Amino acid sequence: MSSKPNTVTVIRKAKFAAAHFLRLPELSDAQNLERFGPSSNPLGHGHNYEIEVSVQGPVQEETGMVMNLKDLKIILQEEVVEPLDFKNLNLQVEFFQNRLTTLENISQLLWSRLSPRISALGFALTGLRVLESDDLFVEYYGGTDQLP
Ligand code: NI
Repeated sequence: MSSKPNTVTVIRKAKFAAAHFLRLPELSDAQNLERFGPSSNPLGHGHNYEIEVSVQGPVQEETGMVMNLKDLKIILQEEVVEPLDFKNLNLQVEFFQNRLTTLENISQLLWSRLSPRISALGFALTGLRVLESDDLFVEYYGGTDQLP
């Protein structure tokens, strides 16, 4: 029993629906339209966002798991779905009061919420994908200092 357990990446998905718009207050309507296209409409538009959260670690001999996926589901519910589902990200999420609601920034917010919760259980968040549609998404790995 001295061999090292295999390292496996477990990926769990979650979904939330939210409204947002992309605008900079210092720009005119025409400039916002030029930069952001129809996404600049201040009345907003919606996406069915999906996220994929990767947790990497050794398979524990006792449980046959990297981490208990029930725990991960609860964390996703508390940190992502409950705070963001059916919200307007620009108007109702404090993080975005002075940031654009881009996928890039959404990934930063979600990482900052998920990573400490997963670390507190002794595991490591190693990847996060945030999709706003089938053909547009971002991936975040928490910065180069955390890459292998
Ligand atoms: Ni959009």
